[in-house]
Amino acid sequence: SEAAEPFGLFYAPDPSSQPACTIGGNLAENSGGPRCLAYGVTSNHARRLRVVLADGSEAELSAAPDPLGYDLVGLFVGSEGTLGVAVEAEVRLLRRPEAVRTLRATFPGVPLAAEAVNRVLLAGIRPIALELMDRSTLDAVGQAFGQSIPPEVRALLIAEVAGLEEEAEWAAGVCRTIFAESGALEGELAATSQERDRLWQMRKRARGALGRLAPNYYVHDITVPRHTLPAVLAQVEAIGREYGLQMATYLHAGDGNLHPNILFDARQPGVFERVLAAGEAILSLAVEAGGTLSGEHGIGLEKRDYLGLIFTEADLEAMRKVKRAFDPAGRFNPGKALPQPGICREVRPGLKGRVPKGEPAAEVGLEG
Ligand code: LAC
Ligand code: ZN
Repeated sequence: SEAAEPFGLFYAPDPSSQPACTIGGNLAENSGGPRCLAYGVTSNHARRLRVVLADGSEAELSAAPDPLGYDLVGLFVGSEGTLGVAVEAEVRLLRRPEAVRTLRATFPGVPLAAEAVNRVLLAGIRPIALELMDRSTLDAVGQAFGQSIPPEVRALLIAEVAGLEEEAEWAAGVCRTIFAESGALEGELAATSQERDRLWQMRKRARGALGRLAPNYYVHDITVPRHTLPAVLAQVEAIGREYGLQMATYLHAGDGNLHPNILFDARQPGVFERVLAAGEAILSLAVEAGGTLSGEHGIGLEKRDYLGLIFTEADLEAMRKVKRAFDPAGRFNPGKALPQPGICREVRPGLKGRVPKGEPAAEVGLEG
């Protein structure tokens, strides 16, 4: 995006790890980011890939403009390094919009803010981004950025609209009206580009700021149908209370993609089991709401054995066949992303002690 800027162009996917992550990693995970609400995820922007296959040969996969045969770029992107290694990528660049407006709205509750998100989308407006942060997240970013947040604020919504000057102005006005009608405490345009940058910094660095609240966190990445967001967010808070763990949730609300972070101190005896059990309750909540196990962080080892919650054994076997077609000897990321046949972990919310014994911490992808 920096190299394209002088040409008035940009690369749309913008994961929060943008300053550190690589295009290769983005291809492997099919990364998203706040802007994917309007622009789509990595698979919508990858046009041609040169990949190294398991036998050491190279292949060129093309998605542009209309691939003959199978859409192998679509298959490769998001395959979590199980099919090959991308060594070169051609991506689509977009023209920068003429005008951008960034709005900030505060709400006395997270579910209320989520309802405002749905109302904006139902009004036919398609913002570039609709991002939400709960009170715990705001406490963390408030401390990290020296920002004092009034006590009545329980959620902050960032909305960004873009287009032609008149279009952006109109969409920003509609958003402000909807926020006011949805019970916002305040809803203002970011007056300067510095304020806009600060809002985005607060959101994109939220994950790092959580260290202000606790020494460890476990980030989740569930996606649910948008209309269920208010109820699902209330349930996430309830899971935190049930397991006696502080939650800090921020979300790509427009996509229905939530990151509930379970905060904890790994030095506390027995806390790990509670964190994992609360995590299972969150996964189960997503599935019950008609959603799925990941929005953008992928499956890896962490959620591999939960795939049976959303796929049948026949689905999984079809995916194993694809893997074998590319990598018959299982050299690339062996054991990741797909469970062994017959392995399916059961998830029953409310039942304690469900974590299989002897699972090493690294195997379940705990971070922090
Ligand atoms: C984010 C990362 C955690 O949205 O996906 O900040
Ligand atoms: Zn995210």
